[in-house]
Amino acid sequence: MRRDDLAGHPLYDGIARIYSHHGQLWPGTPEHFFKRLYADFDYRVDDIWIVTYPRSGTAWTYQTAWGVLYGGDTAALERAKHEARVPRFLPIEIGTARSVADRIDSWYALPSPRVIPTHLPRRLFPSAALGQSCKRIYVLRDGRDVAVSFYHFHRAHKALGYYRGSWAEFFELFMAGDIIYNSWFDHVLDWLSDRQEGALLLRYEDLQQNIQSQIRRIAAFLDKDLSPQRIAAVAEQASFTRMQSDRLNNYARYDFMDAAVAPFLRKGVSGDWKNYFSDEQDARFRARWAERVRERGLRGIVNPFQS
Ligand code: A3P
Repeated sequence: MRRDDLAGHPLYDGIARIYSHHGQLWPGTPEHFFKRLYADFDYRVDDIWIVTYPRSGTAWTYQTAWGVLYGGDTAALERAKHEARVPRFLPIEIGTARSVADRIDSWYALPSPRVIPTHLPRRLFPSAALGQSCKRIYVLRDGRDVAVSFYHFHRAHKALGYYRGSWAEFFELFMAGDIIYNSWFDHVLDWLSDRQEGALLLRYEDLQQNIQSQIRRIAAFLDKDLSPQRIAAVAEQASFTRMQSDRLNNYARYDFMDAAVAPFLRKGVSGDWKNYFSDEQDARFRARWAERVRERGLRGIVNPFQS
């Protein structure tokens, strides 16, 4: 249910599909979604979950994981997409109050193995899925690039109200976690503390620097043996330019994003944060990370910052 406390919210006041429940803000995730997800979903042992904080490379990894499962056979993957055996990219929890049941039903109808994208935080990830020892791929991206990408996403997205505030205001909301999916720091650290078997950690920046070596890691994780040619084919199919023209990934034909403001696949680079962050914002961002790591007593945790 929406709560009155969103009235006057600097980002979401008056926006119909922002919900507040389970201790966080959600875009298009009604409270009863969890009832269906926890009670009725058909968890399968060979499900592959792609888990991220938004704007971290979820769609890219989704496309890549499917490419690996199809052994780099791009024609077969394209056929599967057109026959709806590979669904259009959309994190599982996002829908509308009415469409949640339909969406869960459509996951039922898919053959195994399924690749399921989600931005769920660790504390709400279904324990039944973990009980099945399903595979999880967590994608980490430099939080400063995530913040900038999320800023543009809010500016361009109808359901997020076409945000017209300044970067400085958005930065404060992001730091405070007063935003859909709440704190990037907590989301990342909760998932990085997930040391159970069946989890693979990828970094957006590594995907960019050497996609083929990351595809090899994904293939090994999914027990797939791909020739160098097939790996190159997967990389090509998941390239930024190819994905821009892939109607299942880029949302270009949907009217809920104003591509003239910022398309779903916006820049696809690392380090764009330098064009937005002041030195003071950068210092605060890093200090917040260090503080959260210290508070949790985490050691040997990966450094999410590239420079
Ligand atoms: P930018 O806004 O910085 O361009 P998500 O899928 O988690 O919402 O992440 C979206 C971000 O991933 C966007 O970042 C988008 O451009 C980038 N992205 C998507 N596909 C990509 C690809 N094939 N190569 C590089 N970046 C990609």
